[in-house]
Amino acid sequence: MTTNQAPHESTEPHSPTGPAHAVARHRELFGTPPEGVWSAPGRANLIGEHTDYNDGFVMPLALPHATTVTGSRRADGLLRVHSRDIPGPTVEFVVDELAPRSAEGWAAYPAGVAWALREAGHAIGGADLYLESTVPTGAGLSSSAALEVSTALALNDLYELGLPPEVLARHAQRAENDFVGIPCGILDQMASACCTAEHVLHLDTRDLSRRQVPFDMAAEGLRLLVVDTQVKHALADGAYAERRAECEAGAAALDVPALRDIAHDQLDAALARLADPAVPPAVRRRVRHVVTENHRVERIVALLDAGRAREIGPVLTEGHASLRDDFEVSCPELDLAVSAATAAGALGARMTGGGFGGSAIVLVEADATDTTTKAVLAAFAERGHVPPRVFEAIPSAGARRLPLAG
Ligand code: GLA
Repeated sequence: MTTNQAPHESTEPHSPTGPAHAVARHRELFGTPPEGVWSAPGRANLIGEHTDYNDGFVMPLALPHATTVTGSRRADGLLRVHSRDIPGPTVEFVVDELAPRSAEGWAAYPAGVAWALREAGHAIGGADLYLESTVPTGAGLSSSAALEVSTALALNDLYELGLPPEVLARHAQRAENDFVGIPCGILDQMASACCTAEHVLHLDTRDLSRRQVPFDMAAEGLRLLVVDTQVKHALADGAYAERRAECEAGAAALDVPALRDIAHDQLDAALARLADPAVPPAVRRRVRHVVTENHRVERIVALLDAGRAREIGPVLTEGHASLRDDFEVSCPELDLAVSAATAAGALGARMTGGGFGGSAIVLVEADATDTTTKAVLAAFAERGHVPPRVFEAIPSAGARRLPLAG
């Protein structure tokens, strides 16, 4: 999976130790064997950025990087969570007393999921959960969603709730929105819950209808790379919420429920309506991004369905320009990753995820993987940036229960 071993010892901040190790560690920490082990991945988004909170379309793939959780029920109503990756003691909550914003740090995510399930009337009691993750944090690859969805899946099975993946994804999103306080859309949680290996997920975020679109890059002689710029983003810092508000203002000015309701062939008329001096110019640009981005999702689906995977490259690069210029969520390091990769002959590249740092994706011919990677690393070195981490985005399985080993 690694394509640039040189600047870093490992592409993964924490190596996977596997279910057998996690089972042993669970027993050691909690004095009881786990009843099950579950896994939920991080994601990269191929196309459809900042469209999810506009009821639009997205196209993520699951990464091989995942959060693994071992779990066992407790009869005393306590939720105890322990992370291998974040130094610190086991964190303990009384499930009945969980309330929005009552927890901080990483443990707020699993606690928020327990809260969201309870709020929805599901009879979940206490649990011991031990978590290990290989999803890089702050890299725009949905480490939070992996944490939420793995917890949701564990509680769903432990308490035999029988909820389908899209409902678990909704509870995970609610945990993040209302308990943790981050106003994200549904992209990351649906990707983690519903993606399948060798496919991208074509998802309509309005009603969660979806289709798995074959995306076996290796069979096509292509590679999809992730360039983690290591620039940390913080969705909570207000810029994400500001973009959401601008999109809502655009929809209100155009008198539609959401920007998804503006079809691509209505864009010029919509922009003309927004030329009113009372509408901030930024709102016009945000609208243009969302409408063209939804159209790019359609274009990419059509190309993939027609077996013309190579031709998606320029559409990806166009998407980056729109995020950089119209949506203004890129940063110099992401722009550099994209420009260096395309100058070196990549078929296309774009930032992925929320932006303001994090990762870019790059589509290359398989035999151009090394030259493109080297060109990106050289460009970063020349500008004095921290070396990015480059690895292959192999479309992997979504959330699932693993065999209980050990
Ligand atoms: C973050 C959010 C998602 C989505 C993307 C941008 O990853 O969590 O809901 O809005 O940004 O597409």
